[in-house]
Amino acid sequence: MEMKIIILLFLSVISTINSSCDITSAVFDNVLDGMPAAFGDYDSDELTDVFVIRKDGKTLEILLSNEHEPLLRSTNLTCKFENRITSIVPGDYDGNVFMDILVTTLDNDNILTNVYVLWNDDGTLNCSGTSKPLIKMIGQPLTIDYNQDMIIDLFGTDADNHRTFWIFNNGQNSPEPIQMNTTISTSIRSPHSNAFLDLNGDFYPDIMITTNEHVEIWNGSNKGFNYFKKIKWPYDIIDSINGHIGQSLNLDVELRGELDLILPICFDNDCKNSTIAIYNNGWHNMNINFIDDHNDTWGFVPSNSDNDKLYNDAITLRGGDFNMDGYPDLLATLKSSKTQIIRSFLLINSPCIKNCKYIKRTFVIEDWNTFNTFKNDTIMAVFYDFYQNGILDVILVQHDKIHNKYQVGAFKNDLDYDASFIKVMVLTSLTNPDYPLSYGSLGKKKRTYGTNLPGPSISYDTTTQEGNHRKAIAAQLPQSAHFSLNLPYTTFGLGRTPNFVDKLLIGVAGYSREWRQIIPNSQMVVIPKPIDYPPGWKAQLFVTPSKLIYMSAAALAGTCVLISFIILYLWWKERREDKFERLQEAHRFHFDAM
Ligand SMILES: *[C@@H]1O[C@H](CO)[C@@H](O)[C@H](O)[C@H]1NC(C)=O
Ligand SMILES: *[C@@H]1O[C@H](CO)[C@@H](O)[C@H](O)[C@H]1NC(C)=O
Ligand SMILES: *[C@@H]1O[C@H](CO)[C@@H](O)[C@H](O)[C@H]1NC(C)=O
Ligand SMILES: *[C@@H]1O[C@H](CO)[C@@H](O)[C@H](O)[C@H]1NC(C)=O
Ligand SMILES: *[C@@H]1O[C@H](CO)[C@@H](O)[C@H](O)[C@H]1NC(C)=O
Ligand SMILES: *[C@@H]1O[C@H](CO)[C@@H](O)[C@H](O)[C@H]1NC(C)=O
Ligand SMILES: *[C@@H]1O[C@H](CO)[C@@H](O)[C@H](O)[C@H]1NC(C)=O
Repeated sequence: MEMKIIILLFLSVISTINSSCDITSAVFDNVLDGMPAAFGDYDSDELTDVFVIRKDGKTLEILLSNEHEPLLRSTNLTCKFENRITSIVPGDYDGNVFMDILVTTLDNDNILTNVYVLWNDDGTLNCSGTSKPLIKMIGQPLTIDYNQDMIIDLFGTDADNHRTFWIFNNGQNSPEPIQMNTTISTSIRSPHSNAFLDLNGDFYPDIMITTNEHVEIWNGSNKGFNYFKKIKWPYDIIDSINGHIGQSLNLDVELRGELDLILPICFDNDCKNSTIAIYNNGWHNMNINFIDDHNDTWGFVPSNSDNDKLYNDAITLRGGDFNMDGYPDLLATLKSSKTQIIRSFLLINSPCIKNCKYIKRTFVIEDWNTFNTFKNDTIMAVFYDFYQNGILDVILVQHDKIHNKYQVGAFKNDLDYDASFIKVMVLTSLTNPDYPLSYGSLGKKKRTYGTNLPGPSISYDTTTQEGNHRKAIAAQLPQSAHFSLNLPYTTFGLGRTPNFVDKLLIGVAGYSREWRQIIPNSQMVVIPKPIDYPPGWKAQLFVTPSKLIYMSAAALAGTCVLISFIILYLWWKERREDKFERLQEAHRFHFDAM
């Protein structure tokens, strides 16, 4: 135990060196025009790569993640499309382990979404899928796993306005459409914030469908989805008529072990009066203070029909535990009502002090200058772990209004916490007999068991250092459309606790497995295989950046050597004292004899 604490101490000391916040050149080198669209490990090296849109918005490129600078490298893994790309969702759509890429574009002639899949047979990128769309549909699809076969399927609206599931199988052909069994004819909202996650604790992911009036909840099961209930949007707001409804998000805001529904809203059309609402047996206003240090009121940026404006088709919040206290924080983009400047801010999840009847937490912009090193309008911010060390950093997109140019920036999270974390990733657990697992350095597996899996629930239970009970839950990849930019893993901050995490519970496709006594600061990969026999599921440690391992090994060795020297010295001293005593005794004896 003590040894572990020493390791943790060394790790935290190591991770607090270096303090500059703008690390754009160390991350992106000089490739700054790639707009982030999705995350996933394309080359199976256990580092999360970034899928970006480059050039005229019609080219997909994969920036491969690296352990050394530049951390994200431009590659020749690119494909060009005929129309503007509206979304990218990596995943295994044919069950051959390799990560395929689903790309949607908007056909301006008939306003239908074209869905393409770039199939991956051997780890390279083959652009032949760009020639013909597999599906034409209304709006963007949500990625789900309909039949628990670990091959990713889709949900959305078909060209005839029916709610439809598209089921992919082992072949690389068009998926089979299955109409949703429903009499509800309300259309899905556009842009939607549909989500695929387990809300009722049966480990079957449920579906949340957003329409213009409601959010519908459909219980998941092994035989499709059953309608459960609908929740009306709050405060009688009708989007773009008397205010705005943003994209909903599910986070465990109060650490109750339940996923709350949170929603950015505006009470007016200009979003001068904005707030975040949370649903917990009724909607509650979280009373966010959007007035900055200069008495300037900020609000969300109302969506714009202008197709050229990136990341502006919906008001989107992005969640992640930035300060590692366990409570999920938010990134939001706001507009000043005085200067019209647009900027992204970090909203810290803090205890609610004023006007809090039902909800004990609120979001506070503690530092209005956090991202001030990024001078121009920052129109989008998203969490990403550059150093793959469990600490969430931020990718920002800046807009240069004069030249109408977009540019990415990288912000390093350098607040010196001696806080710990656990990072968990659940994989599809598929294998491919043609490509057996190959072992790399440090016994690390080069081919992992599959790729991004939407829907698993990940929760933990533990006792904090103060003796309080704490639990939290998160869903993996619940949303995939409209640049929701979810990470394929979950990071829980644990605060300043060097204790073991008592229980970690993973639920996948109706089954669950519990692991006990997890060492903090572990990065776990969960392989739910065979899916219907949870005792057989495996959990492997992520290969943490080797530099850290060597440094802590060196630190440990140093400590051992030091302790050995001390022991040697003490031993030598005692021996000397012994000898001296013996001499004295002998002397005394001599003396007495005389
Ligand atoms: C991409 O680059 C790699 C290495 O730089 C090279 O081996 C490969 O042939 C290239 N592929 C294409 C399609 O140019
Ligand atoms: C790309 O995929 C197509 C269709 O599956 C195939 O005919 C072609 O040979 C592939 N190209 C490469 C370079 O693998
Ligand atoms: C459709 O739903 C109804 C009631 O919700 C049920 O009775 C019926 O069996 C379902 N049909 C299919 C094909 O699942
Ligand atoms: C859906 O789940 C909720 C919560 O567990 C339950 O109360 C409800 O009866 C379920 N509804 C259906 C149709 O399965
Ligand atoms: C914002 O709108 C709400 C609901 O209409 C209202 O209660 C509140 O006073 C408004 N706040 C401001 C600052 O105008
Ligand atoms: C802040 O602005 C409001 C009106 O927008 C004004 O009533 C108030 O006095 C101002 N407060 C300060 C401290 O300037
Ligand atoms: C910010 O905008 C100015 C023009 O207004 C431009 O010259 C500069 O390169 C931009 N800087 C960044 C970091 O985007």
